[in-house]
Amino acid sequence: MSSSAGTYPQQEGHAETNEELYQRFTKLVSSWPCSQALSNYQLYCHHGGWHGSLAPMVGTMVADACFAARPSDVVVATLPKSGTTWIKALLYSTVHRAEHPVGSSDHPFNSLGPHECIKFFEYQLYTGNRVPDLDELPDPRLFATHVPFASLPRSVLASGCKIVYVCRDPKDHLISQWSFANKFRVRDGLEPLSVEAAAGFFCDGVSPFGPYWDHVLGYWRAHLAHPEQVLFFRYEEMSRDPAAHVRRLAEFVGCQFSVEEEEDGVVDAIVKLCSFENMTGLEVTKRGKTELVVGAVENSSFFRRGVVADWVNHLSPETAGRIDAVTEARFRGSGLLTAKSKNKGEIRERGIIAGRWSKEEQSGDLAFILLKLKLQLDDDKLDLWQDHLCILKCLVMTCK
Ligand code: A3P
Repeated sequence: MSSSAGTYPQQEGHAETNEELYQRFTKLVSSWPCSQALSNYQLYCHHGGWHGSLAPMVGTMVADACFAARPSDVVVATLPKSGTTWIKALLYSTVHRAEHPVGSSDHPFNSLGPHECIKFFEYQLYTGNRVPDLDELPDPRLFATHVPFASLPRSVLASGCKIVYVCRDPKDHLISQWSFANKFRVRDGLEPLSVEAAAGFFCDGVSPFGPYWDHVLGYWRAHLAHPEQVLFFRYEEMSRDPAAHVRRLAEFVGCQFSVEEEEDGVVDAIVKLCSFENMTGLEVTKRGKTELVVGAVENSSFFRRGVVADWVNHLSPETAGRIDAVTEARFRGSGLLTAKSKNKGEIRERGIIAGRWSKEEQSGDLAFILLKLKLQLDDDKLDLWQDHLCILKCLVMTCK
């Protein structure tokens, strides 16, 4: 329910102002246990999970109370540092390709970052004592959130609107989060956190909107139960075949590419427009900022390396193994470790842990094998790494 008049009916006979609504939730969230963990903010703990900082958690509750979803809405849901900026760019440019053709000189991406084009409920829309009037927005309305599935505004679930989820290998997610948080810790005069300390918090589940595993499982189960409502993408698979994901995205939100568009190369143009290389070169990325409830964030900070398995450059094999062990224990039986995905009619075995590719894929991807080999040589404990031995074999085969 939008409240442009600035009041929200808490119960019959009492109209609560927006300010009172925000105050009520602020008081509630402030009473929960909190920890700074790997963030530069205090993260609040509720029901053993969803660690977010104060203002976004309050915004989440206000959105839950006030947002009225429509069946035509599309909500991007992600953990931070899982590819949110990328999927927002892909979704926006796909949905709005008719009024904003990819090559047009006045394309919104020339002046707005993806986070301005698709706004977060808890960081941008339900902030500053405001309950925005979103009724005037044309269909399909596009929104975003970092909250776990269980904390989505209740009208999102009731409306049956579409949810696009992107997850990422936990180790890459951690490294991205750790680099991002350290930037802001230094800005705020705090000591940067060591990667080992960050990994410790992460494995304990104390990470923004964590625990990671609960977040992923929540949306994964929703996807399994309602595949027509919840699309589930993996960053690693998007990197390997972005065009296939753009097609699936378009189909999912009901704006498939026509034969003419395919012939005109529209899909590839969208992939190129939203690519890491193109987005990082835009003026709006280099100089622009996005206003979030936690402060203005430079658009460039949403881009770092944009590659798969960068964790090998930061995590010791022991720490990586510890995270993989938690992941295997938490995801066992869920189907996430060996999820099958369809690609061009061919079923592929894809686990969630980057690096657990099929042997054929490994032997075809020398760069990836070399990354893994580097890890092995650093480690000197080859017998503990069964999977990686198989990669070594592939390397030998490839070199032959
Ligand atoms: P790295 O820190 O590993 O480089 P989010 O958008 O959820 O905050 O995630 C940020 C991560 O996605 C960063 O990962 C960033 O570099 C990467 N990223 C941002 N835009 C991207 C794009 N267009 N293509 C691929 N990766 C992208």
